Amino acid sequence: MSKLKFVDAFAGIGGFHYGVQEALGKDNVECVAFIEQDKDAIETYKNNHDYFTYHTDITQTHGDQVPEHDLLCGGFPCQAFSINKQNSKKSTVDKEDERSYLYKDLARIVEAKQPKYLLFENVRNLASIKHEKGGLLIDDIVKTFDEVGYNLEYKVYDAADFGVPQQRKRVYLVGKRKDLNEPIVFPEPTESRVTLKSVLEESYDESLLEKLNKPCTSRCALKSEYQGDWSDDGNFDWNWDKAGCYYCNKSNKDDNTVYKWVKKKKGNATHSLEKTDIDKKDVVWQNKQHAFEQDMKDRNNDTEKSKKKTKLGIEPMSIIMYDTPSAVSRQHERIYSVEGISRTLATFGHPVYYIDGKYRKLSSRESARCQGFPEEFEPNENHGKACKQFGNAVCVKVIKFIVEHNFKEN
Ligand SMILES: C[S@@+](CC[C@H](N)C(=O)[O-])C[C@H]1O[C@@H](n2cnc3c(N)ncnc32)[C@H](O)[C@@H]1O
Repeated sequence: MSKLKFVDAFAGIGGFHYGVQEALGKDNVECVAFIEQDKDAIETYKNNHDYFTYHTDITQTHGDQVPEHDLLCGGFPCQAFSINKQNSKKSTVDKEDERSYLYKDLARIVEAKQPKYLLFENVRNLASIKHEKGGLLIDDIVKTFDEVGYNLEYKVYDAADFGVPQQRKRVYLVGKRKDLNEPIVFPEPTESRVTLKSVLEESYDESLLEKLNKPCTSRCALKSEYQGDWSDDGNFDWNWDKAGCYYCNKSNKDDNTVYKWVKKKKGNATHSLEKTDIDKKDVVWQNKQHAFEQDMKDRNNDTEKSKKKTKLGIEPMSIIMYDTPSAVSRQHERIYSVEGISRTLATFGHPVYYIDGKYRKLSSRESARCQGFPEEFEPNENHGKACKQFGNAVCVKVIKFIVEHNFKEN
């Protein structure tokens, strides 16, 4: 059996590379080229993977420059389709954004080289985003590859169903050259779910700890109502039980509204956030730790109720322990449990978890594990850069699964 040769396009740090290797065996595959333009990602890729050659900007890479290969992989950039973008209701592709059409560069290489197989990945939104002419962009993508001789099918998988503790719903596209007459398969995953606890390191860098004595952005009390005192270590010793619970937007100076949680008599929600006529100048800010502890008390450790409050759909495995009302807070100011799975790793806004009595971010190694990267993988030494790279990466375990079921023979 000859080695399966593959090209890793939009390679990042090589999630596809590991996935292909793990599925077919390191000795049975060969990366003949990777294509990546980000210098930090190139450095990390080179440190970790064997390859024959590499190219930088795919738009400047001609098909005949790329070596012969059996499988073309590509996690084409997703920023253009991602719902993380400022326009969170994004439903139509931004035709001004050149990144929306980088799949055409993949098609150009496919037309020139005619590999047997294709494997692409993108954000879930790719499956529903509309083309500027009205139809679905993904239908255009399927048609583009049909025109160069391929059947292309897709399915949404969640990395959490592949043995890693991360919610990461992505569209996976598998293509096969039509003359091969091979079916494309997307079996249901069978792995049991695991929690974040299972990937935690015993020791970690102190810089990952969250300083919770800074003011919480939204939870506050009325100066006239709160009771407490300054403690010796310079923190204020709050007595929030007596202070009541108000919220307002600390970061937006123009928003002077103070809200109060009010118990509701009707409907599903137990409380609603209602505007008051209190002046923002009359409030004091609670610090995050106390806000968190107060939330714990409020919820009375009622985890079923907490799970229902999860707005990110991470249930049933993760609980948002401290969530401020959406009207006045940002998502990454919440604190999450490690009894669940992690939020989708992203390129920015890394969440804080409550771990062994401390509040901290995940380490690079823990992020690597959430993405199914092997232990020998050496992340970028800079934690911020490493997090960005894992936020961009594809989950190794999902790629392994798809390759095992689709590209076993060569
Ligand atoms: C979503 S990430 C893919 C990450 C990869 N699948 C992994 O496992 O790390 C997209 C990558 O495409 C790269 N990229 C964007 N535009 C490119 C271009 N014109 N040519 C080559 N690479 C490009 C980005 O730098 C980024 O690393």
